[in-house]
Amino acid sequence: MIQSLKAIIFDLDGVITDTAEYHYLAWKALGEEVDIPFTREFNEELKGISRMDSLEKILLLGGRQNDFTIEEKTALAEKKNAHYCRLIEGITPADLLPGIKDLIATLKAEGLKLGLASVSKNAFTVMDRLELTSQFDTIVDAAKILKGKPDPEIFLKAAEQLGVEPSECIGIEDAAAGVDSIKGAGMFAVGIGSEETLSKADIVYENTEKVSFEEIVKAYQNK
Ligand code: BG6
Ligand code: MG
Repeated sequence: MIQSLKAIIFDLDGVITDTAEYHYLAWKALGEEVDIPFTREFNEELKGISRMDSLEKILLLGGRQNDFTIEEKTALAEKKNAHYCRLIEGITPADLLPGIKDLIATLKAEGLKLGLASVSKNAFTVMDRLELTSQFDTIVDAAKILKGKPDPEIFLKAAEQLGVEPSECIGIEDAAAGVDSIKGAGMFAVGIGSEETLSKADIVYENTEKVSFEEIVKAYQNK
């Protein structure tokens, strides 16, 4: 048993599976529809951000934040979600990112609790399709979260549902807003992606394949 470490809390999109790419494709299509094309670089700012907050960011980018009524904005967000739902229809356990299956097996063998802290309202569906739901001790319901990432609420909620202290948790994220949420919750943060974007994480891996649990534990214990 690793001293004091009790739980690992995962983000979903872009950490467990590559749905971050599907969110990007669906937002990009919607952006083009409202004449606001955007780059992958801008998309980094959308990662980890709730559906409506993402739409607001896109409209602001195009200077169109005052061009739509609330009803129209809701319809735009629903359209993006319908597109996203079509893209995730065929997800299977084969869509786990490299190394994630083994990482989960290692964590369970170590007796650690597993939590999911995703702001996606599609998280339960994706976890079911990946056949991971029964492997996790808790999944936070995004519909019950008042403040999205970067607010720490969702990671604190995951720790509370697991019955552990934030200091006994490690959070894993691919989004800058997600790393802020983990750090704000007082947890050790593992980033998946570029060092530059995730500079506030305690340790960063370029991709999931490179994640080393032993290295993370060492870094956590030396904190
Ligand atoms: C996050 C994604 O996990 O969920 C964001 O990183 C996405 O890109 C957000 O916007 C909300 O997802 P959904 O499925 O509720 O629209
Ligand atoms: Mg993510």
